[in-house]
Amino acid sequence: MADTSAKPMNGGDGLHSYTHNSTYQVYISTWIQFFFFFFWTDFVTFNLRWGVNLANSMISEAIAELFDVNQFKITSSNHSFSVADLGCSVGPNTFIAVSNIVESIKLKCQSHGVPSEAIEFQAFFNDHNSNDFNTLFKSLPHDRQYFAAGVPGSFHGRLFPDASLHFINSFYALQWLSEVPKEVVDKQSPAWNKGRIYYTNAPTQVMEAYSAQYGTDMKSFFNARAQELVCGGLMALLIPCPAVGILPSHSPIIALADLIGATLLDMAKIGLVSEDKVDSFNFPKYNPTQQELEELIEENGCFRIVKMEALVRDPKMKEAASDIKMFVPHIRAAWEGLIKDNFGSEIIDELFHRFTNKLLETFTLDHTSFEKIAELFVLLQRN
Ligand SMILES: C[S@@+](CC[C@H](N)C(=O)[O-])C[C@H]1O[C@@H](n2cnc3c(N)ncnc32)[C@H](O)[C@@H]1O
Repeated sequence: MADTSAKPMNGGDGLHSYTHNSTYQVYISTWIQFFFFFFWTDFVTFNLRWGVNLANSMISEAIAELFDVNQFKITSSNHSFSVADLGCSVGPNTFIAVSNIVESIKLKCQSHGVPSEAIEFQAFFNDHNSNDFNTLFKSLPHDRQYFAAGVPGSFHGRLFPDASLHFINSFYALQWLSEVPKEVVDKQSPAWNKGRIYYTNAPTQVMEAYSAQYGTDMKSFFNARAQELVCGGLMALLIPCPAVGILPSHSPIIALADLIGATLLDMAKIGLVSEDKVDSFNFPKYNPTQQELEELIEENGCFRIVKMEALVRDPKMKEAASDIKMFVPHIRAAWEGLIKDNFGSEIIDELFHRFTNKLLETFTLDHTSFEKIAELFVLLQRN
């Protein structure tokens, strides 16, 4: 069976690396960032830095309002505070997120008369074992105000000791599944996803299988985090979701994954890849609705929802999103590993060349495409 468990972003610092395809905001204009970042992670994560910045300001506000210096018994004597970023990839967004948390807690403590030097921060950077932690460590900011450690492993299971974390953060990672739902690759199942690699534009059974897998994964995620986070500790999540009332198939940006599938099928027809392989390959990611997520949090019962808000984009950005060719490298940075593992590295250049042409021929993105996707910011507090 195809190995379609989630794969990390492209490592290293080459042309198609995550590092080079997640820092465009430094080099390019705002609208292009917006467009590029949507695809960098998995077609539904646009302009990550834009989302990260917005989420960061909401986190700062929440720490200022909710972080209880007395509850954590932070005094003028030394105290350590642990932050974990789950699904950190190789940077730089993870460093921005962690620094923001550290700075915000320091400010809050200072406002309670606790000198910031009194607190020591430990930051844990988590991702899959196969994430390029070497690149992550090499790019750790020199002026960081925390001790840093890498924590390899899946966030769908336990990663930390009981009640050892004060703040958990996860941006643009919780749309990845632990695995492709088994039914969609089972020829006997009504959910067999023949001729497609994703659930958008697929029969209802396929969508239901994906949704069920997401539910199973998130139950494990919330159970694990409930054990690891101290009482009163905070958890911030940023997850791409379809906008309220919009079907994934009606959101061109989410449904774009189907075009990779169509490109693979074209290649199968002329013998460049095996059709069986295309049939057994599916993307292990799912964009939950806000309601699904809310129900999963409530079912877990260990967290209070402090804030759940769909981030609103600047309309100027939406209008300007138009250059299809420019975001293909970002799609490639995110998905190349997964595709390579299943089809071999020799098809990658051809696939992305054909995919670009298909996009140019068939795909229209306008500002309404961007209204059909929401980046959901969720802030939870451990009961
Ligand atoms: C798109 S990147 C987001 C990186 C970073 N959080 C940011 O905002 O720039 C998603 C990351 O989540 C990681 N990921 C996906 N599933 C995971 C899992 N089960 N456990 C740990 N990391 C996972 C991927 O390997 C990838 O590096």
